Amino acid sequence: MPFDFGQRRVFVTGGSSGIGRAIAEAFARAGAQVIASGIDQADLAASAASAPWPEGVRLCELDVTSDKSVDAAFGTLESLDILVNAAGIIQRDGVEHTPSGFARTIDVNLNGMMRTCLAARAKLASSSQSGGASVVNVASMLSYFGSPFVPGYSASKGGVVQLTKSLAAAWAGEGIRVNAVAPGWIRTPLTAALQADDNRARPILDRTPMRRWGLPEEVAPAVLFLSSPEAAFITGAVLNIDGGYSAF
Ligand code: NAI
Repeated sequence: MPFDFGQRRVFVTGGSSGIGRAIAEAFARAGAQVIASGIDQADLAASAASAPWPEGVRLCELDVTSDKSVDAAFGTLESLDILVNAAGIIQRDGVEHTPSGFARTIDVNLNGMMRTCLAARAKLASSSQSGGASVVNVASMLSYFGSPFVPGYSASKGGVVQLTKSLAAAWAGEGIRVNAVAPGWIRTPLTAALQADDNRARPILDRTPMRRWGLPEEVAPAVLFLSSPEAAFITGAVLNIDGGYSAF
C-alpha cells in the first residue's frame, strides 16, 4: 500500500463488515489508528470471530440512527483526521415500498451519514493532516440509476451524492475535504441474496463490462487515495469503482 497514514486517526462507520471492514483494514495496514464501528455487540462479535483484525483497529458500537449513540462514539474522541461513512442497509422484498421501510433506509443511509458528519466536524476541522481532513462517503450505482425494487436505497444514495457535494462546498473553508466513492456490485453480505440467485446475478454481470463482482479490497484503495495528501485539491468528487457498470 503506497500510503502512509501513521499518526492519523480514522473512524469507519459500518467498519465491522464488507466494504467498511476492508477500508478499516487498509488504513490500519497503512499505519493509521482506526476505529471501526458495527451496529451492535453481536455484529462486532461476529466480525471479530470471522477473521482476526490487524493491529491498530479498535471496534466500537454505533447506531447511526441514534443521536445518543453518535454522541457517545464521537464525543469521546481526542482527535480525528478522517471519517469514512460506510454504514448502510438495503431492504428488499417490497419493504422499501412501505412508508416505514422507506423511512428506515433513508434514516440509516442518509440521515445517519449527516449525523456522523456533524458529530465529527469540529474534530476534523482541528486536524493537522497535510492536504486537509477528509470525509469519504460510500455512494452506489443507485446514486445515478433508479431501482424498481429498492426505492429507499436508491433515494438515499442519490442523496448521499448531493450531501457530499454540499458539505464539500460548506466545509472547504475549514480545511475539510468531502468526497464519495460509488461502488458497483461488490461481494459482501449486503449482496449475498443477489449473488446466490442466478436469475438476479446474471443481468448484473451481463451489464458489467468486466463481467465479475468487485471485491471490498478493490474499493478500499480509492478511499485511501481520496483521504491522502495526494488528493489535496479534490473535494466534492464521486469516484466510480464499478468494473465499467456506469460507463454505458
Ligand atoms: P455490509 O452489510 O457488509 O455492512 C454494512 C455495515 O453497516 C455493517 O458494518 C453494519 O454493522 C453497519 N450498519 C447497518 N446498520 C447500521 C446502523 N443503523 N448504524 C450503524 N451501522 C450500521 O454491507 P456492504 O456491502 O459492505 O455495504 C457498505 C456500504 O457500501 C453501504 O453503505 C452500502 O450501501 C454500500 N454499497 C455496497 C455495495 C455492494 O455491492 N455491496 C455497492 C454500493 C454501495
